[in-house]
Amino acid sequence: MKIVLLGAPGAGKGTQAVKISARFNVAHISTGDLLRKNIKESTELGKKAKEYVDKGLLVPDELVIALVRETVKEIDSFLFDGFPRTIEQAKAVDDFTEIDKVINLDINESLLMERLTGRRVCGDCAAVTHITLLNGADKCGVCGGRLLQRADDNQATVKSRLDVYVKQTAPLIEYYKKQNKLVNIDAGREAADVFKDIESILKQ
Ligand code: AP5
Repeated sequence: MKIVLLGAPGAGKGTQAVKISARFNVAHISTGDLLRKNIKESTELGKKAKEYVDKGLLVPDELVIALVRETVKEIDSFLFDGFPRTIEQAKAVDDFTEIDKVINLDINESLLMERLTGRRVCGDCAAVTHITLLNGADKCGVCGGRLLQRADDNQATVKSRLDVYVKQTAPLIEYYKKQNKLVNIDAGREAADVFKDIESILKQ
């Protein structure tokens, strides 16, 4: 199974991807996670990507396409989270593989700023949570690790990421609609309800 998870920053792609990957045994390929790992390790790619990620801009297509091609070259079943993000990237995907389904997490933009500025990520196990779920706790509920805020989850950078999404990524909805692969899911609900809908679509 080859799936693309589309959606604005904060729509819940990462949250749902973890559940989908466990339930359907598909590799979770998040370009955001791959880029952050490269930035943390100061690889050549990481050094180039950092200036874009810090500003909430997209990393150039050729760098991201090469990264994904290399990552999936021996994987048959995967879920793309945050990729493709431009028409150019989507065309590159069509050149190297056949996507089965595209799930678009549809959400009202007014919910996103609060979701993103309140997100916390465990520095040890990478579990994602939100300050509203922590009841004042400052440790990860999964492993007890230290919770961190992503460097790009501040108001100014989130605003830039949302603008970039509207201009460069939202056109992919039409692109995949034309290919008859797009399924829209209302992502403004509880994460468990969103997952139930995704599960029933992927079981078909
Ligand atoms: P990336 O890491 O992909 O970030 P993003 O698309 O901005 O998405 P997020 O991870 O912020 O949100 P999400 O939809 O995964 O939401 P989550 O589940 O965490 O990309 C970061 C940067 O890398 C980009 O800006 C760009 O620079 C670069 N990049 C990445 N891919 C690229 C590409 N293909 N091309 C070029 N550049 C690229 O949820 C968010 C919060 O909401 C959490 O706190 C969560 O607990 C909460 N939440 C989730 N679901 C619900 C729910 N149903 N109800 C209530 N709260 C919820």
